[in-house]
Amino acid sequence: MKEKLLKLQQEALEKLSQIKNEDILEKFRQEYLGKKGELTSVLRGMGQLSAEERPTIGQIANEVRTALENKLQEKRQELEDLKLQRKLISEKIDVTVPAKKIEIGKRHPLDQVETELCDIFRSMGFDIVEGPEVEYDVYNFQKLNIPENHPARDTQDTFYITDNVLLRSQTSPVQVRVMENRRPPIKIISPGRVYRADEVDATHSPTFHQLEGLVVDKGITMSNLKSVLETFAKKMFGENTKLRLRPHHFPFTEPSAEVDVSCFVCGGKGCRVCKNEGWIEILGAGMVHPNVLRECDIDPQIYSGFAFGCGIERITMIKYSIDDMRNLYENDMRFLNQF
Ligand code: PHE
Repeated sequence: MKEKLLKLQQEALEKLSQIKNEDILEKFRQEYLGKKGELTSVLRGMGQLSAEERPTIGQIANEVRTALENKLQEKRQELEDLKLQRKLISEKIDVTVPAKKIEIGKRHPLDQVETELCDIFRSMGFDIVEGPEVEYDVYNFQKLNIPENHPARDTQDTFYITDNVLLRSQTSPVQVRVMENRRPPIKIISPGRVYRADEVDATHSPTFHQLEGLVVDKGITMSNLKSVLETFAKKMFGENTKLRLRPHHFPFTEPSAEVDVSCFVCGGKGCRVCKNEGWIEILGAGMVHPNVLRECDIDPQIYSGFAFGCGIERITMIKYSIDDMRNLYENDMRFLNQF
């Protein structure tokens, strides 16, 4: 019996030392130490031993069990350590590897200029109002004193959606929408996208952006218009900027003017940027036509107003000396990263 036990121990320890994973270790435990295991079955045979033999054999059996249990525990620990080690190696992070460079986006130059324009006019007390890009003919033309068959319709080649719905060709329809919905005093600007059926070239695009301004109150005169535009021009292009109003015609303003600023590059002497003119045209403006006020139920005997409209692309191109408008739409990062 004693030999049987010692042989069992030797055999078990031998097997144990070969075990390399936890499942097999568990099988081993059941095989030797479990209820139906080898050691248990040997111990069951103790009943047949004599009374003298029993204590000694019993002691040996206990020693064998303890030895196996201890070794098993040791092995279990060893396997766990091994597992942890493998995990640590596979999850190791090399903190010295250089980080992937993150490209940070930035706002488009058109958006930057639009914000700058809005900030300047907001600082002068203008509200910002937006209008729809899909507009009624009535707002884009009729109520702006441009009746059907008026030649002014030809100068703004318009995308029509139906007979009376179109893509707005200017931001001026927002003037009408505001005057219909608010009573004077009115002091708003309205930036936004406009559409014209133009071929793409260095200075044209079928879609671009404008910023409209409108002020209506009692006693508004042309000098108010000039002073607002002068303040704007100085803030946008520099303190020394001068303003020039040239007579012009727009159906919805009377009198009308085209407005130039003195060239901020040469100061008026003439250079490449101003094409030797000394002046650069930046917007159209004028006193709101009485017909337009009347269309909006504002009495032109009591109220007067001025309006102006500029192209945001144009202002951006002048400000940054960009000679081809397509640069603003092609999203070439080498171009955009300069702003
Ligand atoms: N809407 C005109 C244009 O697109 C600009 C303008 C606006 C002129 C307001 C006068 C007053 O050309």
